[in-house]
Amino acid sequence: MTIVINMRDGLDERKIKVAARLILGGKLVAFPTETVYGLGADALNEKAVRRIFEAKGRPADNPLIVHIAEFDDLKKLAREIPEEARLLAKKFWPGPLTIVLPKREEVPLVTTGGLDTVAVRMPAHPIALALIKASTPIAAPSANISGKPSPTLAEHVVDDFYGRIEAIIDGGPTWVGVESTVIDLSSERPTLLRPGGLPLEEIEKVIGPVEIHPAVKGKAVDLARAPGMKYRHYSPNAQVVVVEGPRERVREKIEELIAEYRSKGYRVGVMATEEFEADEFFHLGKTVEDVARNLFRALRELDRRGVDVIIAEGVEERGLGLAVMNRLRKASGYRIIRA
Ligand code: TXA
Ligand code: MG
Repeated sequence: MTIVINMRDGLDERKIKVAARLILGGKLVAFPTETVYGLGADALNEKAVRRIFEAKGRPADNPLIVHIAEFDDLKKLAREIPEEARLLAKKFWPGPLTIVLPKREEVPLVTTGGLDTVAVRMPAHPIALALIKASTPIAAPSANISGKPSPTLAEHVVDDFYGRIEAIIDGGPTWVGVESTVIDLSSERPTLLRPGGLPLEEIEKVIGPVEIHPAVKGKAVDLARAPGMKYRHYSPNAQVVVVEGPRERVREKIEELIAEYRSKGYRVGVMATEEFEADEFFHLGKTVEDVARNLFRALRELDRRGVDVIIAEGVEERGLGLAVMNRLRKASGYRIIRA
């Protein structure tokens, strides 16, 4: 029932045509972007978009991102395009940036979770761009069952959706690894709704200071504008704990925790930028870019190896680190341990 379309060796226009026909026929096609895999459907086809929510088990009020392949597509979706949006699009599209703007009537409310705004992004993956060009703007949330870590390999999508969607395009591993940065330009002040693959610092260089929605850093206050923030997220089956603090102390704390959990009979997994002796270990790499790229894969992989607890090393909240810590804290259900 699900066809897996192999494009690991690069773009294949003939296979893109097959996938584009499925999209235009109202079917669901998972495809790679530079951030994570998306679960795509024709953004303007209500019935097709409804199936995304069903397949993921996603609450109907959590809106989807519409993916486009050229700037002119934005004019078909957004009612107003402020100067800031033009500047950001010019500088960062295609790329891991999503912009929220007032929506046009043509965009179904199903797609926007009932909001009168629409989130739009132009992904930087050649397969994603070719698929959109050959079909239509594509609504696509991350291609994971709601609440699970986002998929950075086609295998992750197969694990969650095989037999339940029409096609999965395998384009190999995604290279950013965390989802796009979401910025709201639909009201007076530009507001960061979700930190992501494009660092906030880069955005502020172009449009000046950006407000940070309170939901970004921790507990939410007003969730009306950031509906995605209120749901359980990125959670593997194992309990995740995040260790934060100065580097020297973090190492010691993680070692302490490993011993403590093991003495209680738990199988312990560790994900970190340096080696640890635990039941299972996943090396996240050295730089914050490595950590972002490997984060979701590590959560899924340690889960697969059957650990009860995952101890994750925190990173500094600068650049991509803001997105990494946002994902880790959510994955842990805010079980944060200060070193
Ligand atoms: O990198 C990405 O953004 C990936 C790839 C596939 O493009 N997509 C993705 O989609 O992460 P999803 O559905 O997992 O996350 C979309 C986020 C949610 O937090 C949602 O609440 C927010 O964007 N969002 C979408 N439309 C919105 C709107 N109109 N207003 C406010 N937030 C919106
Ligand atoms: Mg998601």
